[in-house]
Amino acid sequence: MNGRFEDRVAIVTGAAGGIGEAYARALAAEGASVVVADVDGRGEAVAADIKGLFVRTDVSDPASVEAMASAAVDRFGGIDHLVNNAAIFGTMKLDFLFTVDWDYYKRFMAVNMDGALLCARAVHPHMRARGGGSIVNQSSTAAWQYSGFYGLAKVGVNGLTQQLAHELGGMNIRVNAIAPGPIDTEANRAVVPGDMSQKIVRDRMAVKRMGTPDDLVGMCLFLLSDAAGWVTGQIVNVDGGEVFRS
Ligand SMILES: NC(=O)c1ccc[n+]([C@@H]2O[C@H](COP(=O)([O-])OP(=O)(O)OC[C@H]3O[C@@H](n4cnc5c(N)ncnc54)[C@H](O)[C@@H]3O)[C@@H](O)[C@H]2O)c1
Repeated sequence: MNGRFEDRVAIVTGAAGGIGEAYARALAAEGASVVVADVDGRGEAVAADIKGLFVRTDVSDPASVEAMASAAVDRFGGIDHLVNNAAIFGTMKLDFLFTVDWDYYKRFMAVNMDGALLCARAVHPHMRARGGGSIVNQSSTAAWQYSGFYGLAKVGVNGLTQQLAHELGGMNIRVNAIAPGPIDTEANRAVVPGDMSQKIVRDRMAVKRMGTPDDLVGMCLFLLSDAAGWVTGQIVNVDGGEVFRS
């Protein structure tokens, strides 16, 4: 077994399926003990398959997130890595910022933006106790394109990545983000009509195909790993050349 994450404990939120599941499986394959944290009970089967631990978690609920961190420590002895991947995505309402139901908007931001902060708040004392750790937040190229409150939440995730990198850097905890382009998951297919995806690939992407969860795994594990020891506060596009930033 490749031992990059041997003796490491990683929590992946939203790992019951899609991209989070791919991250959880890849971390386990490289030796990590993995906590699959999700509101969706499908995470149970993923965790069983990788000899990890499923913890039913609502990332927007401080008590639930504290319980997630405690469960990780009780079962595996500590926490080294966190991937903040959970989000309302495949089932999200499509609406405008100026008309979306206010309660829905608050709930959406609580999960898609504040959830990452709550998880970081809950795990950082445990990382500090181990001498440091690393966090990867799941952003999106939506942060730089018009995409309503979904994109706004990802702008927040980017800001959080930069601010937290400074607050936690003195504890030897690094915080980075991945901004994926369109990734072919069940959730993406549910929310983006097929003809729109084809148009995005044709008109916007340098590499003329959608990504797969496996296209993201290499960057996620690199950013979590010790090889990225001097990389923090960065938002790294893994997007087939969809967005160029200067
Ligand atoms: N698929 C894409 O095209 C794409 C592109 C860029 C970024 N992303 C981001 O990648 C991540 C995963 O996307 P995906 O396509 O795999 O979708 P997905 O719906 O399969 O993954 C999201 C997971 O989060 C979980 N979740 C939702 N609310 C939760 C909560 N309150 N607490 C805990 N878990 C919760 C869901 O149950 C689900 O398992 C999301 O953050 C999404 O915004 C996706």
